[in-house]
Amino acid sequence: MSSIPLLRSSVSRKLVMSLTGIWLCVFLVVHLAGNLTLFLPADQARPLYNAYTRFMTTHPLIKVAGFVNYAAFLVHIAVAVLLTVQNRRAKGSRYVCDAPGGTSEWYSRRMGVLGALVFVFLVLHLKVFWYRYHFGEVGVDAGGLRDMYGVVVAAFGELWYVAVYVVAMLVLGFHLLHGFASGFRTLGLHHRRYWRIVRRFGAAFAVLIALTFALMPIWVHLTTPPP
Ligand code: HEM
Repeated sequence: MSSIPLLRSSVSRKLVMSLTGIWLCVFLVVHLAGNLTLFLPADQARPLYNAYTRFMTTHPLIKVAGFVNYAAFLVHIAVAVLLTVQNRRAKGSRYVCDAPGGTSEWYSRRMGVLGALVFVFLVLHLKVFWYRYHFGEVGVDAGGLRDMYGVVVAAFGELWYVAVYVVAMLVLGFHLLHGFASGFRTLGLHHRRYWRIVRRFGAAFAVLIALTFALMPIWVHLTTPPP
């Protein structure tokens, strides 16, 4: 049992999961939009991308949003672990969507494993990009900006790294396929009239996010020679 009042009941834990999950979906949309410049030719992409990463790491409001992101990631992961342990202990009282052989899809029953794999990806991702930007050595471009574009191109020049990203985005896609609709259902949006729309929108969201993120390393690998 948690000592934090908000986390004492399983309903409030699910509520925390859905609110942090929906916030993280918004983060994914913003992060995806910012990285879209990677699809441009290198001479146009470099200054734009470096200006974007500078803006994202120095603007005061974005910095505050960044701390909310870290908190949302940590709370989402911690409460997921709490819910999994609670479900395992409460033998025979699993959620319906956790019941093997029920009507749920396999990815709905494997949210914990999928989430853990996304976490492993995130650790690698933050080490290679975020840690490097904040604490490592990064060259500068012709405009004097730190050349994060060069770091991304060098990373995606490695075939194994591209493969890791593609597999990770497949995992993220399945995590979102259940997570997006499930988050809104927890918030009460499961009326028959809207539920089908929420599920379809969630599926489109999962495919769009996963596919576009997966295409970035493939595109950069195929079109941009590493520095
Ligand atoms: C090919 C796709 C991606 C590229 C090229 C990319 C690139 C980057 C770069 C360059 C940074 C460091 C600069 C910055 O903070 O903006 C960063 C930070 C970050 N990325 Fe990604 N990213 C990708 C996909 C993802 C995905 C799928 C996730 C989540 C599942 C993610 C989560 C994060 C987080 C949490 C940060 C730290 C943000 C912050 O400091 O507020 N990224 N990414």
